[in-house]
Amino acid sequence: MRIVVGVTGGIAAFKAVGVIRSLVEGGHDVQVIPTEAALRFVGLPTWEAISRAEVHTDLFTGVAEVRHVALGQGADAILIVPATANTIARLAAGLADDLLTNTVLASTAPLIIAPAMHTEMWRNAATRANIARLTERGARIVGPGTGRLTGSDSGEGRLVDTEVILAELDAVVSTRRDLAGTRILVSAGGTREPIDPVRFIGNRSSGRQGVAIAAAARARGAEVTLVAAHLEVPVPAGVRTIEVSRAAELESALVAEQPAADVVVMAAAVSDFRVAVASDRKISKQDTGEALALDLVQNPDILRGLVRTAPEGQRVVGFAAETVDDADELLRRGRAKRERKGADFLVLNSVGVDHGFVEDRNSVIVIDASGDIVATAAGDKLSVADRILDAVTGTASEPATPR
Ligand SMILES: Cc1cc2nc3c(=O)[nH]c(=O)nc-3n(C[C@H](O)[C@H](O)[C@H](O)COP(=O)(O)O)c2cc1C
Repeated sequence: MRIVVGVTGGIAAFKAVGVIRSLVEGGHDVQVIPTEAALRFVGLPTWEAISRAEVHTDLFTGVAEVRHVALGQGADAILIVPATANTIARLAAGLADDLLTNTVLASTAPLIIAPAMHTEMWRNAATRANIARLTERGARIVGPGTGRLTGSDSGEGRLVDTEVILAELDAVVSTRRDLAGTRILVSAGGTREPIDPVRFIGNRSSGRQGVAIAAAARARGAEVTLVAAHLEVPVPAGVRTIEVSRAAELESALVAEQPAADVVVMAAAVSDFRVAVASDRKISKQDTGEALALDLVQNPDILRGLVRTAPEGQRVVGFAAETVDDADELLRRGRAKRERKGADFLVLNSVGVDHGFVEDRNSVIVIDASGDIVATAAGDKLSVADRILDAVTGTASEPATPR
């Protein structure tokens, strides 16, 4: 596909590099149009190198080919990432004062806008009205998310992750609706077991891979329910979400939702243990003295429970994150775990303190009930998600919109 990526002048401009790289790696023809302000943040050579194409910003160069009309008419989709409050206002007003806004006006292609700005700018009545106007005209707004902003600020206004933007693009332009009519239940994130009202036993799972599975399934037409435990990434549009904290809550939500699902993907990282009796007030050093012993008891094995209660025809998919780098050892442990749990599929990946959990990329092996490898995938978490879905739903492996 031919995708025009408009980049506007915010701190998050550098994140557009990752989006463009994923699109180019996916085989798309990407034309980047940075605004003058965007070039104050990231220079022209970066955009040309990453898109592997000549990049123009000026309306009055290449006039003979009427570039803005050519770019606009030739686009299958226009993605603006990040979108500043200023450009959102210009688009809402229908202004055409630079190459990007001229291109948007000269195009009938779907427009996807990924805003990024400070919370106050995002919540300003002017921005709200501009967003409402653009939405009414059919533009798709993806994000913003909540999290770290420029400097020490944090709040609503952060550019959403690359995989969320790509899923939105896919949802808009994809002709691959092969999971329409399929109901997928996904768990993602990491559970927290309370020690007292302010402390907990948790894990490093960010929820990225589970959220990417939810996003990819949604983009392919599935009806998706996400059981979310402390996600560090925003939930994709169109996905029904149930927020949970402790393993027991995760289990209850999954058990309640399981009967209505065709596929259950258990991607959440669940604490194996919980504190036997959590204190109902904050434990202080005065109470404990030099040492504090916590009495831990095992949590139920949720995956095994789901396998036991799975209705006829439902596929249950587990995840095994192991701290081993050797593929043979990973496979050996994965096969043993699949045996113990009885899952129809197990997705294996190697994790460590510095890889696996919070990265945008992942590398997995999927085994089936016989322990045979049915898929291997490496890349951004969204394309890995697509491969996992291909394997567990038995669908074709070539997407209509390659990433
Ligand atoms: C350091 C810095 C960071 C900025 N970050 C943002 C931002 O994240 N979002 C935003 O809407 N504007 C941001 N601005 C303001 C825009 O750069 C400014 O509104 C500019 O006119 C946008 O032009 P454009 O929309 O044509 O790219 C920032 C400005 C500076 C100096």
